[in-house]
Amino acid sequence: MMDVRTSVINKRLKKIKRIISVASGKGGVGKSLISASFALILSKKGYKVGLLDLDIYGPSSHIILGINDFSFPKEEKGILPHEVYGIKFMSIVYFSQDKPAPLRGTDITNIIIELLSITQWGELDYLIIDMPPGIGDEILDVIHLIKKSEFIVVTTPSKVSLGAVDKLLNILNELKLPIRGIIENMKIDDLSLIQDYTKEKDFNFVGSILFDRNLENKIGFPDELMKSNFMKELKNVYKKIMRKEFTW
Ligand SMILES: Nc1ncnc2c1ncn2[C@@H]1O[C@H](COP(=O)(O)OP(=O)(O)OP(=O)(O)O)[C@@H](O)[C@H]1O
Ligand SMILES: [Mg+2]
Repeated sequence: MMDVRTSVINKRLKKIKRIISVASGKGGVGKSLISASFALILSKKGYKVGLLDLDIYGPSSHIILGINDFSFPKEEKGILPHEVYGIKFMSIVYFSQDKPAPLRGTDITNIIIELLSITQWGELDYLIIDMPPGIGDEILDVIHLIKKSEFIVVTTPSKVSLGAVDKLLNILNELKLPIRGIIENMKIDDLSLIQDYTKEKDFNFVGSILFDRNLENKIGFPDELMKSNFMKELKNVYKKIMRKEFTW
């Protein structure tokens, strides 16, 4: 795709050290929760971090972070993202005011290009991208528009989820994109389906997170979320991913 805005995008992302997209071939596996939580962990550790919700149909990062101020971000040669919990946050909700809007595939691509080309992230250590489910236009857009993204892939321990995730992993692999780790989320038993799969395919398994029964009432309250069992386990996953950093 040749578009003047793509060169603007590269310029906008130039001062970001690492871009990590959290994806899955499947919906509802915990991508948004893991993205927002990763951003919270990084922010708490003192890194400069941004979170970009690219789920245009079903944005949800703002719900997890408990944001209800959708006032239009400040404009200054582009727009400056709101800062919440030390995280620079950008989402379609600032433009849609969280109202539903019927959109077609090309609209989605245009919105993604727009968000990427107007947002002034400034200097960041990490930009976390919360990807929409599936392997549709949006993920291909990210692959084409953001050259330096690394990927974390989330799956639940189900054959159905793994079937879809396998397709995404094959695409990322064929394009030789860096897959930093596969996270197994919402584990409820001892089956080793995902671990066996990653071993067989030589993917980097970075850990399991158990289904946390007490999580739901912590959604929207980051301070509570930080104290959850989910977060405890995600921190172990985080350590594994970051430890690998030195051998990548
Ligand atoms: N380990 C867990 N334990 C309990 N609940 C969880 C866990 N992980 C995620 N959830 C819950 O599951 C639901 C789906 O999570 P989330 O929205 O993050 O998934 P998603 O992959 O982003 O979905 P979508 O594909 O719709 O964007 C949320 O209500 C979330 O709080
Ligand atoms: Mg989501």
